[in-house]
Amino acid sequence: MTDSDDYSDFAAQYDSMIEQFQSYADAAVFGLMYDRVEPGDKILDIGIGTGLASERLARYGLSVYGIDASQAMLRECEKKRMAKELRRVDVSREQIPYEDGFFQHVLTCGVLHFFESLDDVFREAVRVLKDGGTFTFTVMADRDGGVEGRTVTRRQTKWGREVFLQGRGYITELCSQNGLKPVAWLLVLGDVDPEDGGKNYYWIYVTRKGTGTGE
Ligand SMILES: C[S@@+](CC[C@H](N)C(=O)[O-])C[C@H]1O[C@@H](n2cnc3c(N)ncnc32)[C@H](O)[C@@H]1O
Repeated sequence: MTDSDDYSDFAAQYDSMIEQFQSYADAAVFGLMYDRVEPGDKILDIGIGTGLASERLARYGLSVYGIDASQAMLRECEKKRMAKELRRVDVSREQIPYEDGFFQHVLTCGVLHFFESLDDVFREAVRVLKDGGTFTFTVMADRDGGVEGRTVTRRQTKWGREVFLQGRGYITELCSQNGLKPVAWLLVLGDVDPEDGGKNYYWIYVTRKGTGTGE
């Protein structure tokens, strides 16, 4: 891993920036997951950042394990003392450092739009997930939910980073290839730029691995 850290300049301000961007995706994620989790369950948060997406789950009694490529974001998360374990891992280059079936749940919020291909990250997320466990993830979309097909649309952001919008056909294909059954999905307004009013929309998918009972 190199020392480059895209978030090192603003990790300390991240939570207040998210507030300014009126971003409530983390609350919507909790709402969709709430009746599918139990206190004591182990959850892996991929790209945990400062911990926003899994903070409520930790308060509800889940054991949160976080991985992230940014040391600066992990440092901010560590200050909150909400996670059982935090490790620096770049999932575009490294395997997830946990054994098969270690987690009841895997979550990744606000991360997958940085990946053109989701094949490897899905395979790894599902590997560390128990049968019957949930994999919850967000993908960036257009206001109308985006394209149906197996496409990946590139979009340049004003902060200079390219992001990728995965078509719904690609997500459906990934789920079926990895033995995931979508059990809930919701399109949300993820954030509003306070300077120019620009909006980003996200799909939140809750999926279940394998033949687990319930849904
Ligand atoms: C927009 S932030 C979202 C943080 C958090 N999940 C949340 O909901 O607030 C994206 C996070 O993904 C992390 N990230 C981006 N690419 C990554 C990769 N290849 N491996 C691990 N983490 C990555 C970044 O370091 C950053 O902390």
